[in-house]
Amino acid sequence: MTLFPALKDADILVTGHTGFTGGWVCFALRQFGARIHGLALPPATTPSLFHLANVEALLTSHTLFDIADHRTVIEHVTALKPQAILHLAAQPLVLPSYDDPLGTFQTNVMGTVNILEAARRTESVKGVVTITTDKVYANKGRHNHFNETDRIGGHDPYSASKAAAEMAIDGYRLSLPSWHRDMVIDTARGGNIIGGGDWSTNRLIPDYARALSSNTPLLIRNPQATRPWQHVLCLVHGYLVLLNRLLSGETQKSAEPYGEAWNFGPAPSDCVSVDSILDKIGQSWRRANLEMVPSAVHEARTLEIDATKAKQRLGWQPKIGIDEAILLTAEWYKTHEHEPERLGALTERQTESYFSQLS
Ligand SMILES: NC(=O)c1ccc[n+]([C@@H]2O[C@H](COP(=O)([O-])OP(=O)(O)OC[C@H]3O[C@@H](n4cnc5c(N)ncnc54)[C@H](O)[C@@H]3O)[C@@H](O)[C@H]2O)c1
Repeated sequence: MTLFPALKDADILVTGHTGFTGGWVCFALRQFGARIHGLALPPATTPSLFHLANVEALLTSHTLFDIADHRTVIEHVTALKPQAILHLAAQPLVLPSYDDPLGTFQTNVMGTVNILEAARRTESVKGVVTITTDKVYANKGRHNHFNETDRIGGHDPYSASKAAAEMAIDGYRLSLPSWHRDMVIDTARGGNIIGGGDWSTNRLIPDYARALSSNTPLLIRNPQATRPWQHVLCLVHGYLVLLNRLLSGETQKSAEPYGEAWNFGPAPSDCVSVDSILDKIGQSWRRANLEMVPSAVHEARTLEIDATKAKQRLGWQPKIGIDEAILLTAEWYKTHEHEPERLGALTERQTESYFSQLS
């Protein structure tokens, strides 16, 4: 018996498939027999997981355009007629959001609205899983262990854009009965994702990889900051649970038939400081030279999310703790240094190995 039977032969539109999480999602969806239709911009970095692991070979279709263009989004989705949409595409970084708040809001808010509008107009779509973040919670620094009922806010343009996307999602979800539209809209809020194939700037692991390969110091802004670190496959696992649930009709029979918000976070013991992560990476990979620099922008000192609801109601829980997550990540980047031609096979093996622990 397969873990996610409703994914088999389902046509799933994945936005953001050229990025870090999107690439891993494609490996997992293929493993469960889905037909994947990718929609994104071209990979933003060189190197990229998309090219290194040959993600394109996993796809049934691969389309590149800007999700802020509502006409093209609606035309594309209504013609494609997918059964479900996993919406990952975003400007996902805090620091660039200070430089380009307009572009960040356009992609993250209006891009999401465009996807929801296209889904609403496409009868084949049974549901959308939209990926937001742990940073959607209004974090005043007093209380920092958030569950799904906590207030939404956002201290920087990225966080605010994701919080605003959540408001738009709520508006669409609550309007579905008025539109006589049977559709599910779930949101998934995850923590700080680590894993092989992330090449974004101003993220700890890719910055670490670049510091090692260029033999330059790694600039650390906030060593004591505590974050909910998770391996990318733990999040992908949560997304597949939601997709399988809505495709099988299980969500529609639940107390929230139009969908709801879900936290996917690590065990509290895996919410550790940047310092501690650096120490673990140093042990399983190589030590980088660290240079402490002051942070120029606001950063919450502590952030934790409570995943009790996903554990109790979805039966989801992360199968990889922080130590194994670091080992898998180090294995991936070491392979990139020495045998980059093996990265497709390695990404596939790490994915299979994660999901084999669930069956
Ligand atoms: N990586 C993390 O630590 C983390 C944590 C919490 C939430 N998230 C969320 O997960 C999702 C994926 O993040 P990631 O780290 O994989 O990001 P990424 O930067 O690696 O990938 C982003 C993807 O979105 C696409 N995209 C960006 N702007 C677009 C546009 N205007 N039109 C079409 N496509 C566009 C890119 O082409 C790419 O495929 C995002 O929604 C992000 O906010 C990430």
